Amino acid sequence: MKKLKVGVLISGRGSNLQALIEACRTPEFPAEIVLVISNVPDAGGLAHAAKAGIPSVVLEHQDFETRESFDAAMNFKLREAQIEFVCLAGFMRLLSATFVKIWEGQIVNIHPSLLPAFKGLDVHGQALAAGVRVSGCTVHYVVAELDSGPIILQAEVSVEPNDTSNSLAARVLKAEHRIYPEALEMIAKNRVHLENGEAVFV
Ligand code: GRF
Repeated sequence: MKKLKVGVLISGRGSNLQALIEACRTPEFPAEIVLVISNVPDAGGLAHAAKAGIPSVVLEHQDFETRESFDAAMNFKLREAQIEFVCLAGFMRLLSATFVKIWEGQIVNIHPSLLPAFKGLDVHGQALAAGVRVSGCTVHYVVAELDSGPIILQAEVSVEPNDTSNSLAARVLKAEHRIYPEALEMIAKNRVHLENGEAVFV
């Protein structure tokens, strides 16, 4: 089986990367992670990549004068590794419009809320402040506007009366680890694609 060659961009702990790595271990899983790029040298996720024998690259954004030149360096590494599809997994940098355009329809993100609710940072704090009884997570195509692209998959998670940001984050994270591999499988099996700015399911 020809597997979709995936690059994963991270900035931190990398638990979603690890969930994708584990899914890709299944022989019949239709995607493989070929490269991990981190913009943070001591990102925990780099250890997950190393343990799985996946090549990784650290590109520190501070070393680049502009967002565009940093993104161009990432793009070069992705092309060099013949990456076909990009998964953002806790990647904490805004992407330039040029980069997003190059990868249009071939780049997704996971966000820890039921989008379009609670975009940006302190997502669980926002959910608790709003008093919602249900939160969750979303896998979506990446577009120029932050946390805004067409939705591929979502999972609901209940908000419990005594939840803190941390306890809610932990519950949502479990759902993230379930739906990110599921969404990647859908993508790699061509069950969903981006067409005219919309997610099309077949
Ligand atoms: C996750 O909650 C993800 O939804 C958000 O950043 C967090 C990354 O966690 N985009 P991890 O690095 O995958 O553990």
